[in-house]
Amino acid sequence: MPVTHSLEADVLRRQDPELAEILLGELDRQSTTLQLIAAENFSSPAVLAALGSPLANKYAEGYPGARHHGGCEIVDVAERLAVDRAKALFGAEHANVQSHSGSSAVLAAYAALLRPGDTVLALGLPYGGHLTHGSPANFSGRWFDFVGYGVDAETGLIDYDQVRTLARTHRPKAIVCGSIAYPRHIDYAFFREVADEVGAYLIADAAHPMGLVAGGAAPSPVPYADVVCATTHKVLRGPRGGMILCGAELAERVDRAVFPFTQGGAQMHTIAAKAVAFGEAATPAFKLYAHQVVANARALAALLAAEGLVVTTGGTDTHLITADPAPLGVDGRTARGRLAAAGMVLDCCALPHGDARGLRLGTAAVTTQGMGEEEMAGIAALLAGVLRGETESQKARDQVRELTGRFQPYTG
Ligand SMILES: Cc1ncc(COP(=O)(O)O)c(C=O)c1O
Repeated sequence: MPVTHSLEADVLRRQDPELAEILLGELDRQSTTLQLIAAENFSSPAVLAALGSPLANKYAEGYPGARHHGGCEIVDVAERLAVDRAKALFGAEHANVQSHSGSSAVLAAYAALLRPGDTVLALGLPYGGHLTHGSPANFSGRWFDFVGYGVDAETGLIDYDQVRTLARTHRPKAIVCGSIAYPRHIDYAFFREVADEVGAYLIADAAHPMGLVAGGAAPSPVPYADVVCATTHKVLRGPRGGMILCGAELAERVDRAVFPFTQGGAQMHTIAAKAVAFGEAATPAFKLYAHQVVANARALAALLAAEGLVVTTGGTDTHLITADPAPLGVDGRTARGRLAAAGMVLDCCALPHGDARGLRLGTAAVTTQGMGEEEMAGIAALLAGVLRGETESQKARDQVRELTGRFQPYTG
């Protein structure tokens, strides 16, 4: 992947060497350590080029053909392209590509369908619900009455019986399915059935698996959910941002919930970059990529289990793995710090059993770098060696540097 930003980098180096140093330092960090954060990826040079383009200068409140500003005729074409590509990629009747982030997409979905005080059923935060699924520190927990379902303490799988029981008891206005840490496919048909039974809207927050859906490596929530929210970064490999998909009957409500209800001017450079990413995700190469992401995650999960970590649900269907490192003598927080010192960057997460923190990792970024199952074996062994205290962090760092040297995210 050649870097196409050399010109911009040169301009920045001349005009603001201090900031240029920071950017180069971050590029070096990303290129010489292992990016195992499940929500991260490497966007293509074409996506980065669109992000750094003059479209960033344009104010464009409203929607194509109905803006509050003049001079929008070109950016209108960019937004229509992004919308058409998103609709085609996911088979949706309507797409809104303006949400600034995954959280703002969820906020807009709630704004489109709910009133403050409404009851919403969602995966509880201790089991992998996102902040926007009812955290008291977030607008969702303040404005709505959230009821949380959980996962089975033994299997780590969503407790579908509990979902049905809670839905019957609380008669929520909306049911949310989606998680920051659930490694398995979600049974969207089941959620649809329960939502229909109790007269609730179904909102799928598919921020994590949407890239896999694009590549045909995970089931799509689009045929089942009234509204699908997603991020365009993560496995989808686009710019940081959000999007909303829905049927034609909710299109106007969703659009008005994004602008003017929850956002102002659309970020046209990001929307252009989303169009680029949707175009890339529609290619056969992306299909192969998405399937390789899952193959790598499955291999890594099995290898980590063989090293003694307790892998939640016994494996994964997606890009994401959560695991308890306790059998190796460390808790999740200590493990994350030790691994960071060794050049392996990942997150802590809640575990379905007990209070201890576990590890959450994903294979989207390393797969973009071209790594396969063979490299997953090396990563699992290195990770376990560091956690057991058998491999010193400097030695591990050297091995990580050697590995990332062979699989550069950007070249040139
Ligand atoms: C399920 C889910 N919803 C929403 C979000 C929020 O996305 P953002 O960080 O872009 O606001 C995330 C981010 O990880 C997520 O995993």
